[in-house]
Order: sequence, then C-alpha cells, then structure tokens
Amino acid sequence: MNYSVKLSSITPSATSTLNTLTKELIKEGKSIINLSIGEPDFETPDYIKEAAKKAIDEGITRYTENQGFFQLRKSISDKLKRDNHMAYSPYEIVVSNGAKHSLYNIFQALLNPGDEVIIQSPYWVSYPEMIKLAAGNPVIIKTNTINQFKMKPEQIREVITPKTKIILLNSPSNPTGSVYSKEELMEIGNIAIKHDLYIVSDEIYEKLIFDDKHTSIASLSNELFNRTITVNGVSKAYAMTGWRIGYIATTRDLANTITSFQSHSTSNPSSISQMAAIAALEGPESSVIQMKERYKKRRDLMCELINDIMDTRLCVPKGAFYIFPDISGWLKPLGKQSCVEVAQWLLEECGVAAIPGAAFGSPGYIRFSFATSEENIQRAFASIKEKIEKNNRKRSCRSIDPY
Ligand SMILES: Cc1ncc(COP(=O)(O)O)c(C=O)c1O
Repeated sequence: MNYSVKLSSITPSATSTLNTLTKELIKEGKSIINLSIGEPDFETPDYIKEAAKKAIDEGITRYTENQGFFQLRKSISDKLKRDNHMAYSPYEIVVSNGAKHSLYNIFQALLNPGDEVIIQSPYWVSYPEMIKLAAGNPVIIKTNTINQFKMKPEQIREVITPKTKIILLNSPSNPTGSVYSKEELMEIGNIAIKHDLYIVSDEIYEKLIFDDKHTSIASLSNELFNRTITVNGVSKAYAMTGWRIGYIATTRDLANTITSFQSHSTSNPSSISQMAAIAALEGPESSVIQMKERYKKRRDLMCELINDIMDTRLCVPKGAFYIFPDISGWLKPLGKQSCVEVAQWLLEECGVAAIPGAAFGSPGYIRFSFATSEENIQRAFASIKEKIEKNNRKRSCRSIDPY
C-alpha cells in the first residue's frame, strides 16, 4: 500500500510511545513509577466539572460557531486583558481542540513549501513534525544548561535566511522549564521586527511559573502585538488535558483564515468542553495556585534528589512540570552509549519511566516529569540511587586486581 509522501517524514511522538509502553507494563502488573507524564496528575476542579454537567443537562450539545462560542471567546479576551495586558476582541480569537490543534492550524495557515521556522532544541516533540506537515522546514538552534536553555539573539541572527518566516517561542518550556525574561523577549522581538517575521508564542504553561513572572511577547509593543500569534489553552493550568480546549489570539484576518480552515477539518471543539473552559477562565484561581504550590514542592524535592546522584548537571526549571538534567556523565559508569539506553535502563532496571532527551532533539539529557506525587518521586530516586550504587560496586569489584 502507498501512503501519502507527506507522512513519510513524520516520526511518531516519542513521548506518547513511551507513555503507551509504560501503561502496558503497568497493566501487565509491573511496578513502574511513571515520570514520563506530560499532563497534570490532579483532577479537574469540581466547579469546572459542574459547568460541563450543567451544559449537558441544558442541552448545550449541538454544533457551535466554528471559531468557538462567542461567550468563551469573550472570556478568553477578558483573560488576555487581565493576565497579559493584551487587548484582543473575541473576533481575534479562535478556539480549537487543544493548543496542539491551534499550533497545527497556525502552521497550515502561514507556511508555504520551504518556509523556515526557527525553533530551539530541546523542543516540544510535536513542533518539528507539525512544521514539516505544513511543508515548512524547522531550523533548530541548540541550547543547553550553560545558556539556561535559552536562544541568544546572535544565534537567531545567524540562522535567518530569506526563507525564514516564523520564530517559535515556548516559555515556560517543555521539556526544560526555562522562562524568557521581558528583556530577552524584547531582544528577540526586535529581530523579528527587523526581518519582518511572525512570532508564534506558545504560552500553555503560563500559569505554572514558580520563581519568575510570565511575560507575553505580544504585550511588549504594538509592533510585536501585530506580528505575534499567542497560543494558550486550559489543559495544563486547570488540569483539563482530556477536555481538548486551546486557543489562539491574532489579527482578525488570520483568525478568519484559520476559522475557515478549521471549519473543513474539525469544525468547533466540543460544546461541553467549551462551557467547562468558560467556567475555568472565569472561576476562582485558587485551585490553580494550589496545584502550582504542589508542583513547586515536587520540583524542589526532585532537584535535591537528582543532585544526590552521580555527575548530573541541572538547570533548575522555573516553570512547567519537567526537569531536564544533562546525564552525559551517567553514560560511562552505567556502560551505556546514549540517553535512549539510559531511559531503557531506568525503565527495566529501576522501574522508572522517563523520556530520553533525543526525543526533544537533545541527546545526553533525560526528561523527568514531576506531575506525580512526592511519594512517587521519593521512591523513583531511591530506586535509581540504589541501582547506581549497586552498579558502582560491581564496577569497582571488576577493577580490583585479582593478584
Ligand atoms: C509546549 C506544549 N505546547 C502545547 C501542548 C499541547 O497542549 P494541549 O493539551 O492543549 O493540546 C503541549 C502539551 O504537552 C506542550 O507541552
């Protein structure tokens, strides 16, 4: 059978694949501590669930505007004003089936064959694939623990060509938790203005920042507002990954184009989820704050435990719920060739699921998620430490001169 050529360049999402494998092992009865998770472990808050139940009871179960309910777009417009100091009208907002779908729509709407999109590695696994699906070319700028996983302006300038169309930003970042400051965003914004580029700003982890403040690049000037497409959603902040509500804020013209594109693919997102999203955005923020406090405690715990293990270089994440340590120092002592082999060793020997950095374009690292209980984090790192110590004992026995 011949499949579409377009799909031949696409690699399956490594994070989903590992998650599926881990779930299978758990189903088989193996005791696995899952630190590969990319979603909150908390329940969706009750007031949001109630809004969804009410929507069903009131018969809000039909097609909605393709762009999303006006009432939801009004709530989003109010949120963007309140939290991000950005004045978007409801007509400049498009609601989609999760922020992933929003991003997919953007690349389909903006890219022509061969257009280049600047992204940094480590990157969220879906960015390069979505860009390729829109016939674009991802141009990857490498970052690491030394530069706090942030692109330097000179690195961006170096890769700009006549084909460059978009700079993609993700702050706070998955998988590193790095957060760009206002000044850093301004510098990147000035490059975009000078070279007449779009900025796509994925702010899905905005509410999960522990030490810094979130800045939306579109809020920094009128020029940046006009060339930035802001992406956000309710998945991570309100523990609503399964509800599938994401959105973009952009010019009315691009919003109309994307709505038209969406109308021929998925139409509107679920009417019930939209009503739940209104409740999330208009409701009290106390549950978001509580979840954030819990994540912060877990982050601190995980950092402390990782620092106790072998030669690990670590950049303390300022946001999101992932830690992305440089584990290249683990390879030799464990007798492994790559971070993929280390991830396999973690799964099989330690019973801990984590994602190899190669999946995010950064071999030599590993992503641990702290969207799990403190008890699980304790158990996972106790097991890793024990297996490493056992391994070290074996190595030192082997190196003793038998004579
Ligand atoms: C950086 C980033 N952007 C977007 C998304 C997609 O979020 P959603 O669940 O709203 O589709 C994710 C989900 O993991 C993510 O990590």
